[in-house]
Amino acid sequence: MSIRVLAIGGSLRKESYNQQLIRQAQRQAPQDVVIELADLSDVPLYNGDIQAEGFPASVLRIAEQAAQADAFLIATPEYNYSISGVLKNAIDWLSRVPSAPFQGKPVALASASMGGLGGARAQYHLRQVLIYMDVHVLNKPELFISTAHEKFSAEGELTDVASRAGLDALLAALAVQTRRLQASEPAAQAA
Ligand code: FNR
Repeated sequence: MSIRVLAIGGSLRKESYNQQLIRQAQRQAPQDVVIELADLSDVPLYNGDIQAEGFPASVLRIAEQAAQADAFLIATPEYNYSISGVLKNAIDWLSRVPSAPFQGKPVALASASMGGLGGARAQYHLRQVLIYMDVHVLNKPELFISTAHEKFSAEGELTDVASRAGLDALLAALAVQTRRLQASEPAAQAA
């Protein structure tokens, strides 16, 4: 059976390198991996009063996608040495959904930045934030796309050979970890 991966991009802009990276991951996905996209564009700012009236449809939609997913790929931009507010806000909402659709599942991280560190600082913050979600974040490989404006074509294709190889390695590791967890914890994965 195919592995279903839900990809979450932390940038809303049309030309986002992190969104381009996710679309590249769809093109480079191993044969047994299907990558679906989460749309964060209509997720409102977290507000406990809104939650008390009922989760917004956008949050429930992503939570349902997460429930159906076997694994996750998160591509985050780096904003002021951390993850974007868009991504943090979505995680905040999803962390309140009682069914905990992320719990126990593997997560691969990636980041693209125009800077020289490729979003490394944001990724390490993201690792901390994800602790509460009780997910299995891959330690390695790490994928940082630095000077992203030089590594994607005008059409949004990742043209840098080393970055493409890094993406292949990340997706392969995610597939291996997903299969491993499904074999060791079939009940948790099916829940
Ligand atoms: C940035 N950028 C940035 N880059 C970086 O390497 N470290 C940083 O701390 C920041 N901080 C930052 C703050 C804010 C508010 C913005 C808008 C941008 C640059 C950022 O990495 C670049 O704009 C990326 O292209 C953003 O990712 P997307 O939108 O291309 O996916």
